[in-house]
Amino acid sequence: MSAVLGAAWALLSAAFLSALLLQRCAPARPPGGGFGVVFGIFQDLIRYGKTKRGRGQRPAWLRLLQVPKRWFAHFYVVSVLWNGFLLIWLFRAEFLGESLPSWIQPMHRALGRDSQSEGTDSERFSALLVLLLLWLHSCRRLAECLWTSVFSSGVIHVVQYCFGIVYYLAVGSTVLCQVPANVRNGKELSVQISWYHVVGVMVYIWASLHQHRCLVILANLRKSKSGKVISLSHSVPFGDWFERVSCPHYFAELLIYVSMAITFGFHNVTWWCVVMYVLFNQALAAVLCHEFYQKNFSSYPKHRKALIPFIF
Ligand SMILES: NC(=O)c1ccc[n+]([C@@H]2O[C@H](COP(=O)([O-])OP(=O)(O)OC[C@H]3O[C@@H](n4cnc5c(N)ncnc54)[C@H](OP(=O)(O)O)[C@@H]3O)[C@@H](O)[C@H]2O)c1
Repeated sequence: MSAVLGAAWALLSAAFLSALLLQRCAPARPPGGGFGVVFGIFQDLIRYGKTKRGRGQRPAWLRLLQVPKRWFAHFYVVSVLWNGFLLIWLFRAEFLGESLPSWIQPMHRALGRDSQSEGTDSERFSALLVLLLLWLHSCRRLAECLWTSVFSSGVIHVVQYCFGIVYYLAVGSTVLCQVPANVRNGKELSVQISWYHVVGVMVYIWASLHQHRCLVILANLRKSKSGKVISLSHSVPFGDWFERVSCPHYFAELLIYVSMAITFGFHNVTWWCVVMYVLFNQALAAVLCHEFYQKNFSSYPKHRKALIPFIF
């Protein structure tokens, strides 16, 4: 296991879990005095888009630190470029016997990868496949941000924006660090497809299809039958996985990362730490979104959970 990487992702998961627990215990009204300022900053850092609205007028200095939510597209531009570069490097190393860039070897060692570890062809293929899935996911999300989703004037905090950029650089680099050391020895890969590659890709396609459908449902809430944007307000979505949870696109995101853990053959502890991070990150966003719907729509379906059907 890449010990340092795993620890970093586990720490990040713990931070989001703590934020989720703190939010669940937070008072309905902001406390006064110094606690009030800390409470305001905390809320500003965990909320974005529609869940930031309706919290009264935020101080001017806090509003200076916000950027449009439509800039989500920048995350995927960075991801498509960076993870595309990593994919090309890895592909050339695996199939053309070329060496990985020289900076990767010290990075491997620094992040705890055992430099002597030799992987099987199946393990080497897993890392390549996961990087390809991650890149395809970023391409689809970029296309959805540009051509599917209808954004309102919602905002995100500049810290969330910077975090999002760094996240997509880190997640691809994490996949690259799962590449066994023998890729560097110039031994070409002979592709060995295992059952878990097939299962992982099938779960990935299934979750991606549902995530796309749910994002189309959200976009259609703001369009007329002819496809013209007629509103930028928020209303209650129905259909597909929305019948079970408030944030099925977040649930699908979680499934996409689980599908990558399956593609790694279930045993990659570092990647399960990434999955934990996605779980707590999306759970926090889903809880806030669920509360937003319940607060603003009195007839909101009672049986809907926030993130995971029938459970949470
Ligand atoms: N891997 C990660 O760490 C990570 C982190 C965050 C997000 N994501 C993924 O990125 C995708 C988008 O996330 P998000 O947080 O931006 O989703 P979101 O807040 O639900 O927004 C998605 C789109 O739908 C619109 N929308 C949301 N609720 C609506 C409603 N009730 N009525 C009409 N339109 C509505 C939004 O417009 P507005 O402009 O009004 O918001 C936006 O255009 C998700 O699939 C999520 O899983 C991944």
